[in-house]
Amino acid sequence: MNPKVVAVAGATGVVGQQMLKVLEDRDYPIKSLKLLASARSKGKTIQFKGEDVVVEELTENSFKGVDVALFSAGGGTSKKFAPFAAKDGCVVVDNSSAWRMDPDVPLVVPEVNPDAVKKHKGIIANPNCSTIQMVVVLKPLHDAATIKRVVVATYQAVSGGGINAINEMYEQIDAMLAGKEPQCKEFPYPIAFNVLPQIPGSNAYTDNGYTSEEMKMVNETKKILGDDSVRVTATTVRVPVHTGHSESVNVETEKKLTADQARDILSKAPGVVVQDDPANQIFPHALDAHGKYDTFVGRIREDVSHPSALDMWVVSDNLLKGAALNTIQIAELL
Ligand code: A2P
Repeated sequence: MNPKVVAVAGATGVVGQQMLKVLEDRDYPIKSLKLLASARSKGKTIQFKGEDVVVEELTENSFKGVDVALFSAGGGTSKKFAPFAAKDGCVVVDNSSAWRMDPDVPLVVPEVNPDAVKKHKGIIANPNCSTIQMVVVLKPLHDAATIKRVVVATYQAVSGGGINAINEMYEQIDAMLAGKEPQCKEFPYPIAFNVLPQIPGSNAYTDNGYTSEEMKMVNETKKILGDDSVRVTATTVRVPVHTGHSESVNVETEKKLTADQARDILSKAPGVVVQDDPANQIFPHALDAHGKYDTFVGRIREDVSHPSALDMWVVSDNLLKGAALNTIQIAELL
């Protein structure tokens, strides 16, 4: 691959920082690197490959001469600035939800639908974090046995909410341990020592009573699998974990799969690691997945309430496979 001029929009954010680490770690061929954020961060320096890079303010003119722009600066920022980047001939890989369901924008998980990238018109969308880790596990099962319905409950880490959400959890832990009243801004109730069945923290609900995060899992799964017949229902839940989303996934298939067959299929699936040895208490968990690139699956068992369904537990680093890594894998496909 020829070295590219790369821009990272949202470089000072939680996901932007991970993007820089992944670009370094995977040695993505970079001719020059532009770091973009809001006016608040203009002039700050960030280290990349041992050198200081000065952060610039993101503007409509930031993308002249840029080949690839990786966006993680919120939906509004992507909606406003990605078209300017595309107009200047740059390919945008966008981590926000702004473009995901646009029929002209491919929604890509490289292990699942890499060919979709070819249809881009300047913008490619990176799916929702919880959806990505679920579909890398669903895809090989769908190919083997045709999935009819998925019932998922998530246990999502606070880092998915950005730096303010992480800070709020730690401030609340400190306050509560000191016997003080916890302050809530990002979350409607304390997330410390708690479990909140509502993501995002505000303006969460859609007309049907599901949250927007839940409807992302419903709609994006169908788009990525390229199959509208797969029925999905989701309950998305925030838990006081720093990083690493966990999911309880029930998968109903047309053709019956035994737990052993599923383990065998998933052990050969790209980007998936089976951790499933109940006798030795081996199962995936968030602390172990933090910092890793793979998606981990375990607790695979045949659903006792259904003749052709499986239950499983799926865990991945929401900032890596759920965000930065998947974005850079898409850039690598280009
Ligand atoms: P900044 O640090 O200057 O506010 P997080 O998800 O961790 O909160 O990070 C959000 C990222 O998006 C940060 O890099 C932030 O920059 C950037 N960002 C937020 N709003 C804008 C904006 N209007 N223009 C450019 N970058 C923005």
